[in-house]
Amino acid sequence: MLAKYSTYEETSYLLLYGELPTKEALEEFSTKMRRLRDLPKKVEDCLRELPPHPHPMDILKVAVSHAALYDPDRLRCCREGVMRKVIRIVSQIPTIIAYYHQTRSGQEIIPPDPELGHAANFLYMLHGKKPEEEEARIFDIALILHAEHGLNASTFAAMVTASTLSDINSAIVSAISALKGSLHGGANERVLKMLDEIGSLDKAEKYVLNALRVKRRVMGFGHRVYKTYDPRARILKEYAEYLSNKYNDRKYIEIGKKIEEVMIRELGKKGIFPNVDFYSGIVYHFLGIPRDLFTPVFAMARSVGWAAHVCEYTTNNRIFRPRAYYIGPEYVEYVPIEKRR
Ligand code: ACO
Repeated sequence: MLAKYSTYEETSYLLLYGELPTKEALEEFSTKMRRLRDLPKKVEDCLRELPPHPHPMDILKVAVSHAALYDPDRLRCCREGVMRKVIRIVSQIPTIIAYYHQTRSGQEIIPPDPELGHAANFLYMLHGKKPEEEEARIFDIALILHAEHGLNASTFAAMVTASTLSDINSAIVSAISALKGSLHGGANERVLKMLDEIGSLDKAEKYVLNALRVKRRVMGFGHRVYKTYDPRARILKEYAEYLSNKYNDRKYIEIGKKIEEVMIRELGKKGIFPNVDFYSGIVYHFLGIPRDLFTPVFAMARSVGWAAHVCEYTTNNRIFRPRAYYIGPEYVEYVPIEKRR
């Protein structure tokens, strides 16, 4: 329903405040988000100085930490202060990603356009021209679909950090670090790499069977919770299909659908189906988003979900402190170093 009727801004409000906003509340919230998009000048300058080659997820970690130093609410831990910090981070992340992309490509940065919504503004800052309404809407839907998903690894990482009574910015940095990995948000970028490696439809089946034979993970499949088709993947597949037809370029979607067919035939009985990362990359590709920005775009969408879980958990906080089962020897003598062999 949210993907069909909502916007990223409205979904963000719902996640943070627990209810859908009235028209006035949404207007106020969206205006606040638009006003908070700019980066502190020092962060902007720093993005220009950062090396052009690291993975943009590493840049995002650095820039989110850096921006936090200039947050006027940095020392506030009351609910209103934390909420302002959250809205500021969620609004600034797209600017960080777009500015970094412009500076690494030797181009002038394109400041946010307050006339545009969250999704459209990001595409504008990235490409320097206002996106078609339809493409901005498809991107908005992709952001909604990624905004929250229970206690996944990155959300849990954020909650563990926040549970020590650290701050929200640190929690978001922990989450970005966890999302980066290829078993989590990093899978979307690798799906496109796999489609390129396969190269043509006739090679797809052999590629998958070979991957399964050598026990290599096929990116964009499987999920700890979903043992059935990820409903987000179903929606993204429709848009991947739509955009492939629109641009008359069906190579990726055809290879993707073949991989899906073979994976479900081989592993469907084990509950392995496409997850959110499988078709999102094809959608982003047609929206002109560079491949190494796919996972940062995931972070941009999920930042509000991370923050919502942190805010909810810390209202009745208890530090996370799991215990490990020790399975080593029961008693080990301390041997002075000069006697060790
Ligand atoms: N390709 C091939 N085989 C797979 C895959 C896959 N993508 N996913 C799971 N399997 C197999 C495993 O080899 C295992 O087989 P076995 O029982 O014969 O040993 C079985 O399915 C169960 O796999 P687990 O690793 O136990 O499943 P788990 O729930 O721990 O892992 C995960 C979930 C990490 C997502 C896994 O499915 C995977 O590695 N997928 C590929 C990476 C990916 O797409 N990640 C994005 C997930 S969605 C998200 O985080 C936003």
